[in-house]
Amino acid sequence: MKKIIIAIDGVSSTGKSTMAKDLAKELGYTYIDTGAMYRAVTLYSLQHGFFADNRIDEEKLQAAMDDIEISFVFNPETGRPDTYLNGIKVEKEIRGMEVANWVSPIAALGFVRRAMVTKQQEMGKAKGIVMDGRDIGTVVFPEAELKIYVTASAEVRAQRRLDELNAKGEQTSFEEVLENVKKRDYIDMNRAESPLRKAEDALELDNSYMTIPEQKAWLLEQYNRVVSKNEL
Ligand code: DC
Repeated sequence: MKKIIIAIDGVSSTGKSTMAKDLAKELGYTYIDTGAMYRAVTLYSLQHGFFADNRIDEEKLQAAMDDIEISFVFNPETGRPDTYLNGIKVEKEIRGMEVANWVSPIAALGFVRRAMVTKQQEMGKAKGIVMDGRDIGTVVFPEAELKIYVTASAEVRAQRRLDELNAKGEQTSFEEVLENVKKRDYIDMNRAESPLRKAEDALELDNSYMTIPEQKAWLLEQYNRVVSKNEL
């Protein structure tokens, strides 16, 4: 069967990575979480003291870009890929609040985006991939055969994120998480470089009140429709 590129974009904490991972597993495709790549660059910047006085030292980060090696290694225990930064597994570190608070300004930097997009295009060359992010259908793979744009209300997303953080033992309030969700939406949608927007030919999915199995079924239906159309 012909392999395609599936681009899943949308606002943060919509559960789009869960959808994307499950679909990739079902189809035997490679899953690439591009948010994890921006998070890894943010972690590197935190580890190397590139943040001072509430701002990022762009020159230092730009000079360090060639030293930042991000890779994904499939974890047979979880059935999902883990993110590695310079050979060290950082899956847990990149999901904490500190990285979440800094990642949007990092992802707004043109030189960071260009480096990540080049890597992502390289990773998807062979097709058979499900890639999730903010600009996959608009910038990374504008020719993707299937594009999905996922949304949900900010309150629903904040609650999902809070549950996730609590499950990991990280203590924070609903208000703090909601503020972070809204702030990230604003930065992601209003940045000059590749702002988050729905590609014209993307299918929109509002999953505020959908269960995971319902989303899974919907997504599989879209995949089957596109594949059967392409094979005619
Ligand atoms: O999907 P996520 O929450 O892990 O993404 C983390 C941040 O990275 C978020 O602020 C949006 C940004 N991002 C981006 O700008 N472009 C992408 N392709 C993926 C994520």
